Amino acid sequence: MDPHSYTDLKQGRIKHISFIFSVDFSSEVVHGTGVYRFERQIAGPMFLDVRDLEVIRITCEGDELTWVLDEEDEVKGERLHIHNIPGADEIEISFKTSPGASALQWLKPAQTVGGEHPFLYSQCQSLHARSIFPCQDSPAVRFTYDAEIIIPDPLTAVMAAAPGELIRQDGTARCRFSMPQPIPSYLFAFAAGNLSSQDIGPRSRIYAEPESLEAAAWEFAQVEAMIVEAEKLYGPYVWERFDMLLMPPAFPYGGMENPRLTFLTPTIITGDRSLTSVVVHELAHSWTGNLVTNATWEDFWLNEGWTVYAERRILEMLNGRESSELDSVIGRNNMFTDMKVFGMDADPTCLKFSQAGKHPDAVMSRVAYEKGYSFLVALERLVGREAFDPFILRYIEEQQFQSLTTEDFIAYLNKHLPDAVKRIDLDTWIYAPGFPEDAPVFSSGLLEAVERAVEGYSAGHLPNEQDLKRWTPAQKELFLQLIPGTVPAADCRMFKVLLGLEASQNKQLLTAYLLTAIRSDCVEVIPEVEELLAHVGRGLFVRALFRTLASTEWSRDQARPLFEKFKERYHPIVQAGVTRVLEQAGV
Ligand code: BES
Ligand code: ZN
Repeated sequence: MDPHSYTDLKQGRIKHISFIFSVDFSSEVVHGTGVYRFERQIAGPMFLDVRDLEVIRITCEGDELTWVLDEEDEVKGERLHIHNIPGADEIEISFKTSPGASALQWLKPAQTVGGEHPFLYSQCQSLHARSIFPCQDSPAVRFTYDAEIIIPDPLTAVMAAAPGELIRQDGTARCRFSMPQPIPSYLFAFAAGNLSSQDIGPRSRIYAEPESLEAAAWEFAQVEAMIVEAEKLYGPYVWERFDMLLMPPAFPYGGMENPRLTFLTPTIITGDRSLTSVVVHELAHSWTGNLVTNATWEDFWLNEGWTVYAERRILEMLNGRESSELDSVIGRNNMFTDMKVFGMDADPTCLKFSQAGKHPDAVMSRVAYEKGYSFLVALERLVGREAFDPFILRYIEEQQFQSLTTEDFIAYLNKHLPDAVKRIDLDTWIYAPGFPEDAPVFSSGLLEAVERAVEGYSAGHLPNEQDLKRWTPAQKELFLQLIPGTVPAADCRMFKVLLGLEASQNKQLLTAYLLTAIRSDCVEVIPEVEELLAHVGRGLFVRALFRTLASTEWSRDQARPLFEKFKERYHPIVQAGVTRVLEQAGV
């Protein structure tokens, strides 16, 4: 049972959908029809998930079917109850989205890099596919699809699918796609805007607005090497293409692993390839997540914990162990930040906890990523990589195109790694709050250098300029995380220079710096904070900035007005996240 969906698998399963979508930018509505094919003939009712979706007509072999929206829930949305399907394996539904559809963000030309054309994109994970089309919106149901998207010329549509024909005629563009590999609904994705593209590898191409294409192509040029390393760990890449779409700055996530077409935030274009770990992460989801899928959002750590594990193994092969261990330390620090917000013994600090009545987006945190990762490293270290690596290959091979619950995974562990299971406290790792004291420890020379500088600074010695210049961006980020809660404003200004931030395009590092500066009463950074909040919609940065603004004495009163000022630019998910943050801080 999926607590986040009205799906009743006993009624049957969707197998394939043939869509036609017509996009109307002026009313911010997508009109759609879908021919739904089921796994077998259905005689009886069928429940589908919808949210803020207008259902227009449902037919079966030309005859109209009756239906009703008979249940409603703040988290789940509405239940579309289709009355008696008369023993058929196909129905057709026509529908239209609402301008407030939670999966869609409609960007005005001013919110794009080029500034001349609008942009529309979808983000379906976790429960948002149901705001675009009626579906069994549970990650336990997989279907294939084909689609035609009709948009105004000269825009181009892309999908997380294989592109087919594109016909431009009479002021419109008809773009066809097909998705031959079965996917769960949360991996349905499309975008439309002024897009150009460039090949950057034998199976990879980058799509971006023309103004950003060259920089993006350079930043991600090493993608094929990443795929090759990932295949060594996980087995063959089955999705044929690994293309990427560079999103407008409002995109709420670092990346989204939409199959065949990963969506990426432009904040990872730094000009020095220092944040391409996001690409490695989304690529790794091609196996853990897209191929072996969490059965419900309560099992989200199976997607993210495994993916972080693979991300760090791949980065270890590409950049060395020192660097990946440093990433592990930074990741764990970030996880503790999230745990403290929840409270160290709160439910969301568990790998698996009940999410009934809760929206996955609201309880999602770096716990799933980093506690999940540490758990897998604990297993790896118990049996050694000689045993763990073949286990991984076999796990992917045997579970591909299936969904797993945490309990299925535990059963799989018991069967295939019985010795490890005997020597690890699974219950504590998975079902207990907080963080196990005997968790794996990470060490790295890169880390020690930062720790020495932080200790020195705490003892009154300023860090050595030459050392800091040679540091990697990750070391700089850790330094900013580790220095004491408040430092004199003058030191803050100095760190900015010493860390080379004035010339840096690295928004992640800039955010880390701004957080330190706000905490340190460095009042003069406000224009820079505003500049970032005005132009970057990535939730991770925006939420952290608002949280720190709202919890620091001098900036407390500025948090709410700043949010009101920029709110409209953010994706609804980020708006909801910041609203929670401000409520928690009591401003
Ligand atoms: N699948 C996630 C993004 C996501 C999670 C969307 C939950 C909706 C609900 C994606 O793979 C991810 O984890 N992105 C990270 C980047 C990564 C390098 C940790 C992000 O957006 O920060
Ligand atoms: Zn992820």
